[in-house]
Amino acid sequence: MTSPACTDSRTDCQLSSPASPPCPAGQYVATVVEQEQMARNTYRLRIHCPEMARRIVPGQFFMIRPAKGTDPLLGRPFALFDTYDDEQGRPAGFDFGYVTIGKLTSLMPNWKVGDEVTLWGPLGNGFPVVPKGTKHLMFVAGGIGQTPFLAMTREALGLRQYGSPTRPSETRPQKVSLCYGARSAEYLAGLNDFAIDGLDLQVATDDGSRGHHGYVTDLLKQALTSDCPPDLIYCCGPEPMMHAVQKIAAAANVSCWLSLETPMACGIGICFSCVAKIQQDDGSWDYRRTCLEGPVFPAAKIVF
Ligand SMILES: Cc1cc2nc3c(=O)[nH]c(=O)nc-3n(C[C@H](O)[C@H](O)[C@H](O)COP(=O)(O)OP(=O)(O)OC[C@H]3O[C@@H](n4cnc5c(N)ncnc54)[C@H](O)[C@@H]3O)c2cc1C
Ligand code: FES
Repeated sequence: MTSPACTDSRTDCQLSSPASPPCPAGQYVATVVEQEQMARNTYRLRIHCPEMARRIVPGQFFMIRPAKGTDPLLGRPFALFDTYDDEQGRPAGFDFGYVTIGKLTSLMPNWKVGDEVTLWGPLGNGFPVVPKGTKHLMFVAGGIGQTPFLAMTREALGLRQYGSPTRPSETRPQKVSLCYGARSAEYLAGLNDFAIDGLDLQVATDDGSRGHHGYVTDLLKQALTSDCPPDLIYCCGPEPMMHAVQKIAAAANVSCWLSLETPMACGIGICFSCVAKIQQDDGSWDYRRTCLEGPVFPAAKIVF
């Protein structure tokens, strides 16, 4: 079906701060164009919104709420899964994956094609562009924390470009891998999407129902002792898992970035509900707003 273009209800950017990326965020009323179940309690929503699709980069997020009604009043943050194109090859919209947890995510499976949503974004900094000379880029994901890594994989392998202007992606690591852990096989979402030539996908489940029987961090430890160990790690998932990855990466002296999923109320730096403890240059820590200065931080700077 053809959806109307989403409408920008904001005239100027509210995100201008030295810590934030160039300021392309907007607020839009957009339309649901597809919804499918990906795994147990896990769904993918496709939203028609060319403006967002043109601008968003891997690791950035947006806030979303129903366009009508006041309950829930606050939007909720979700990461980009990937963008998609129209028949002319222009960015038309984006997909995101979500797991049902509470108030809004429990309502979302009822959203139908044509329903209107209010969005604001793209928000946050996104994952860094892969630095030149990277040999093995490894993504470590736990649960729904896999969602930022589809777009990041495609960018790292040179399969798709993101952002406006498109951000550089001239460096191809020799190896790109994803270690993806979940409670059990029924919670593994998007394995078909991650079946990409050039991506080494390894899976772990807590109960051994698929892949390695144990934690995803076991796979990371194994990789670090292999012939081609990761020299750059991007990670997203539950906090205990990210804390463990932080320690493993530090012990191996490997550069590591974590994408935090702190609860957020506004997404644009006003409410301070999203703060995380971040180490300062003098060794002390201070609270930083994850929505503005994150959600992606150098692992070594995060104080858990
Ligand atoms: C930058 C960012 C990106 C995210 N990307 C995704 C994504 O791609 N897919 C996805 O499924 N989820 C993602 N999340 C988490 C998602 O925002 C929450 O699951 C969602 O807000 C829950 O909304 P709700 O109304 O269903 O739950 P609520 O009714 O608001 O809350 C239910 C319970 O969950 C807790 N909760 C709320 N938010 C979080 C959170 N972020 N972490 C831990 N506990 C929380 C509440 O404290 C409460 O106990 C992301 C979060 C952030 C900050
Ligand atoms: S969510 Fe409001 S300041 Fe970050």
